[in-house]
This record gives sequence, structure tokens and C-alpha cells, in this order.
Amino acid sequence: MIEETPPLTRDAAVALLAWYREAGIDSLLLDQPRDRFAETATENARRKAKARPAAPAAAGGRTEVRPESGQRERSAPPSTNRQAFGEPSPATNGDSAFPSTRIAIPDDAALADARERAVSAASLAELRELLHGFEGCNLKITAKHTVFGDGPDKADLMLIGEAPGRDEDMAGVPFVGRSGQLLNRMLAAIGIERESVRVTNTVPWRPPGNRAPTPAETRICLPFVQRQIELVAPKVIVCLGSPSAKAILGSAEGILRIRGKWQSYSFDLEPGGAIPAIAMLHPAYLLRQPAQKKLAWQDLLALKAKMDQL
Ligand code: URA
Repeated sequence: MIEETPPLTRDAAVALLAWYREAGIDSLLLDQPRDRFAETATENARRKAKARPAAPAAAGGRTEVRPESGQRERSAPPSTNRQAFGEPSPATNGDSAFPSTRIAIPDDAALADARERAVSAASLAELRELLHGFEGCNLKITAKHTVFGDGPDKADLMLIGEAPGRDEDMAGVPFVGRSGQLLNRMLAAIGIERESVRVTNTVPWRPPGNRAPTPAETRICLPFVQRQIELVAPKVIVCLGSPSAKAILGSAEGILRIRGKWQSYSFDLEPGGAIPAIAMLHPAYLLRQPAQKKLAWQDLLALKAKMDQL
């Protein structure tokens, strides 16, 4: 005899959703399955066709209209007017609950586009717009907001984390969740106000389910954070956690080995000066391992001493 499945009660549905969320599934995607292999093949064909040089216009044919020099063709991102920590509102990525059919392949073309956009930005506002219009990173599809950065345009101290979490994705501002609150307390303990510091991440979009960004995703996003460093021109950089130290400082060793040691960050996109940089334990790690706060305190004192020398 085949037993009928009982109808799902409201309580059971709520419990199921809570269980999904516990397991890290907290992004609503689509009801219908998608054939991403077919989409990738179509997208590759489209890119190849686009990369092919255009056939010369026939005599008497239409004249191609090109953007004026210095201008590039880009989609203008929508912007909202919310003010967060003195910055314009983060730009939303549209209806992220129902991603569009576009796909983003983190490939060489996307990397070249990221670098070209980043280098061409003359201000943070321009960089933010160019980042928001960038379609080369798949993380953008599921993220609610592009989490660009927080704090003043020019700051002596710049903190760089890994990637936005759920709270940051909702707010469009880096380090606003529990780890952000701990970070603010850590700064306050050495007499630094969060509002005086530039805060950003190596990756500006929340990876679905809080997974770690892949190396390809980090590489694609790197030009934007490198340009942000150049434009902010901090006197000191702090990399929060191992993924940030790896991406920004090229550190190959684990965070417990490299933390608290002064290094030097050299501009990658534009030749320029070197900036003293230090890696510290990520506040999220400290929330999980409170006994390690003693190490964080040593690093904070080293940071304070460096800032006092400036
Ligand atoms: N963790 C990060 O690395 N960055 C954030 O913005 C929040 C949590």
C-alpha cells in the first residue's frame, strides 16, 4: 500500500525553513532548474562574437558612433539616496530573489574588464559606479547589495575584510553585523573611532550561504579594492583575517603565523609608494575563539603605536 504524504503544516514549513537556514541555505533562487552548461555555452559564443573585429562599414554605409575619448560604454547603475556612515547609499543589484538570466563567468575577459574599470576611476564615487556596473563576477547575481566601502574618502587607516556576510548584504555596508560590532569595540579600545576609518572587503558581494569566495572570484574583484586603496591613500592598512592578507599582501602562510608582523603594501595597478600593512585576526574568528583576543590585543597595541608615530 502506498502511503500518502501528509500535507505540510505551517509549523512544519517554518521548521523546514529554519533547518535550511541553519544549513546555510538562505538565498531564494528559482523554482525552475536552470541549465547553466547551456547558458555558459551561449554566453561564450556571445563573447566570442563580440570580441571579433567588426567588419569595415560598406562605402556609403552607416558611420559607427563611438563614445568620446575617455568615455566608455557602460550601463548606468541605479542609485538610491540612503545615507550610510556619510556615504551615498549602496547600489542594489535589482531583484536578487529572482536573478536575471545573465551569467557571469570569472574569466580573463572579466578580469581585463575589472582592471580597466578600476584603473579608469578617478574618485571613489566613480569607482563605486564602475563596480556596480561590472557584470563579470557571479557573486553579484545572488547578492542583494554591492558592499563597496564605508568611511571617509581619505583616511589614515584602512581595514580590509574578506566578504560581506548576511547583515552587510542586507545593509550594503561592510562590518555592521556581530563581527562589525566587535570590530568597533576593538578600535575604540585603542582610541580610534570607526567613523574615521575606511572599511572595505576584498570581495564586495556576499557569497551565497556565507561560503568563502573562490580564488577566481577574489582575483576578479581585486582590482576594485586595489584601486580603492589607491584612492583612499591610507597611511596604514590592516588586513582582517587570512583571506584578506592572502589577497592584498600575497601572504602564503596562515594568519596565526603572519599576524602582528608589519609588511608593506605596494600599489599594483599604479606604481606608487608602499604602505605599512599588518594582518590581524578577523573579529568573526575572535567571536568563535574568544581566548585568542589576547593576540588581537597585542596587534591592536602595535597598530596604535604605528598610528601614533604618524
Ligand atoms: N566579515 C567580513 O570579512 N566582512 C564583512 O563586511 C563582514 C564580516
